[in-house]
Amino acid sequence: MIEKLGLAALRQLDPEQAHKAAISALRLGLVSLPGAVTTPRLKTNLAGLDLPNPVGLAAGFDKNAQATAQLCRAGFGFVEIGAATPRPQPGNPKPRLFRLTEDHAVINRFGFNNDGAQAIASRLRSLDRRVPVGINLGANKESADKAADFAKVLGVIGPHVDFATVNVSSPNTEKLRDLQGAKALRAVLGGVMDKRADLARPLPIFLKIAPDLNADEIAELVGTARQAGIDAIIATNTTLSREGLQSRHAHEPGGLSGAPLFEKSTRVLAQVCKAAGPGFPVVGVGGISGPADALAKIRAGACAVQLYSAMVYHGLSLAGRIATVLDAAVVAAGADNISEFIGQNQGDWL
Ligand code: FNR
Repeated sequence: MIEKLGLAALRQLDPEQAHKAAISALRLGLVSLPGAVTTPRLKTNLAGLDLPNPVGLAAGFDKNAQATAQLCRAGFGFVEIGAATPRPQPGNPKPRLFRLTEDHAVINRFGFNNDGAQAIASRLRSLDRRVPVGINLGANKESADKAADFAKVLGVIGPHVDFATVNVSSPNTEKLRDLQGAKALRAVLGGVMDKRADLARPLPIFLKIAPDLNADEIAELVGTARQAGIDAIIATNTTLSREGLQSRHAHEPGGLSGAPLFEKSTRVLAQVCKAAGPGFPVVGVGGISGPADALAKIRAGACAVQLYSAMVYHGLSLAGRIATVLDAAVVAAGADNISEFIGQNQGDWL
């Protein structure tokens, strides 16, 4: 009830102000935090990370690590912060975040607004990480060598996190998605892997891809990622597609996320799993609105999932609710662990 009132109040605000208010409410202790939901049935191994449950927070919500301690206790099994770039930058002019209420969707064109790697690292330094925390690596808009930026951020923030994600799939930084091509991607990943080797504590490196790729592009990208030694792929980021939308904001430029992204991102997820082969970890993200969507992603091949946009409509308690229903689904199936569902229905999405 209190959460519903809070959501109704936030919806009266401009979307970016509402997001700021949500971060402040977390920091001030105004949001009830259940802790990570966990049972033996929900415990998940993601590229060597031990997750209490497979439901994670997607990048972009806590860009500057301002509420990471609280988010680690909000029900999620893992938390991804950022994107961080080497230098602080303001991002695109406002307005740059839009609610598409009728479509249960969001469009953003933030353009990697963030406080920069040093400031973010200093907030993480003394953080008690109750669940694995990762950093989403980005590139500065004005950078002459965008490929090198990912490694720079890893060097600064890597010592304070449990995994890092190479994000070459945001649509809001010009030419960033070009880095998904084989030659450019090899250079980016080579630099990141070299930097990882220099860290005192090596950590798994993930690659996050766009949903706007065809099967051939996906197969090539997965091959390049595996050759480079990437530990997991996150599928997917936001889409440039505007198919089937009703909201008046439908034609705002930027990346679309939320319910309309579900089908597209799940098809890409299944294609990634097929190209990577059995056992390679893939994280499913895009349009998860509730437990059925999370389970569908796992059945399509994901070993873990992430979400963001649905929290705008259903609140922060959604993650814990999804984890609880996933646990009940394992019990109902007479299985021992959620991992037994991975890939059961992959063929339906190919
Ligand atoms: C994002 N997303 C995102 N992804 C990323 O890799 N780095 C980032 O900095 C951001 N920033 C960001 C801001 C906002 C406002 C939104 C809504 C999204 C993408 C996000 O992590 C996720 O991949 C997509 O939103 C799809 O999932 P949902 O939102 O449909 O659950």
